[in-house]
Amino acid sequence: MKKLITNNVYWVGKNDWELRQFHGYEYSTNKGSTYNSYLIKEEKNVLIDTVYQPFSTEFVNNLSKEIELSKIDFIISNHAEIDHSGALPELMSLIPETPIYCTENGIKSLKGHYHKDWNFIPVKTGDKISVGNNKELIFIQAPMLHWPDSMFCYLTGDNILFSNDAFGQHFCSELLFNDLVDQSELYTEAIKYYANILTPFSHLVTKKIDEVVGLNVPVDFICTSHGVVWRDNPLQIVNKYAEWAANYQENQITVIYDTMYNGTRSIAENIVKGINSSDKEVNVKLYNAAINDKNDIITEIFKSKAVLIGSPTVNNGIMYSIAGLLELIKGLKFKNKKATSFGCYGWHDTSTKIISESLKESGFEIILDPIKTTWQPDMDVLNKSYEFGKQFVKQLK
Ligand code: FEO
Repeated sequence: MKKLITNNVYWVGKNDWELRQFHGYEYSTNKGSTYNSYLIKEEKNVLIDTVYQPFSTEFVNNLSKEIELSKIDFIISNHAEIDHSGALPELMSLIPETPIYCTENGIKSLKGHYHKDWNFIPVKTGDKISVGNNKELIFIQAPMLHWPDSMFCYLTGDNILFSNDAFGQHFCSELLFNDLVDQSELYTEAIKYYANILTPFSHLVTKKIDEVVGLNVPVDFICTSHGVVWRDNPLQIVNKYAEWAANYQENQITVIYDTMYNGTRSIAENIVKGINSSDKEVNVKLYNAAINDKNDIITEIFKSKAVLIGSPTVNNGIMYSIAGLLELIKGLKFKNKKATSFGCYGWHDTSTKIISESLKESGFEIILDPIKTTWQPDMDVLNKSYEFGKQFVKQLK
């Protein structure tokens, strides 16, 4: 069912309340997601993006109730990833000649996914097409937000920025607009999305925001491809992105561990006590990586000025949950964060070396040698862990 955004612009997407994992199993979507597709019905009828592939039949059926498909004059594919282009094969089988406007990289990606030679029209930043009634769609390339092919488009007259993945959230709601939803839920999902998906491209986010703001055009709506449409003070999310892209951090330290027989956990808990005793204002948080959502932990790291990561030594290495987390951290290219490691071992002292080395490779500044012990920590080690927490805080200052 279509929903009116403004004048002749409609949302024709899909709300996916059931989605719990995205990008395979890389990203948890505990609040579901939406695949936002938009229909502009001016003198020209324009479809902007489609929906995730499993919903292609439902999407095409619904769309055909809103408009005779042959009357769609052109399609804009802002981004070729399957969650936005997934219904194109089914749609194009019914209207095969319809032009698809996308970037050169979009053509490559769409051909790579679907192996079809549709009527592609490549566009680049500054290109525009008229939709009639004195309104135009202007294209703005946005490479790596989130893939090389990504672009935005801007509808003059209605002052709408269609930003695709940028400014989105994996957050399902029947309440289409940002001012209608729970603000805490909205921003929890928005920062998680930024931390887990956009962090490595922060320098490009900053550049793109400067470029869009530099256009000096009014923006009344930001229509993303996931989550809400920003209509109430739409630039609030742009300002948030500018903040998040600038090596964002809060006054937070996050301690993360995995444990077999609670030795590494006991060290972690005493480190937390030490940190808390010497800095009453810092928000120190403690997570067992094996039982917490990996994407929530990444969001906490994103918010932190420093992290301490611990694991016992297992088979000369580290525990699975910590190894996976370190791999995620490596890809996200966090900046301006401090760190160290801790852990227990039996006969090979390797876990803290592996963790500190990995954090260093990922761009973290190691400000303190690790704390470690053989077998279970005794009272002396627990006291030292407490002092270690205090020392870590001192090194941060
Ligand atoms: Fe929502 Fe990069 O796709």
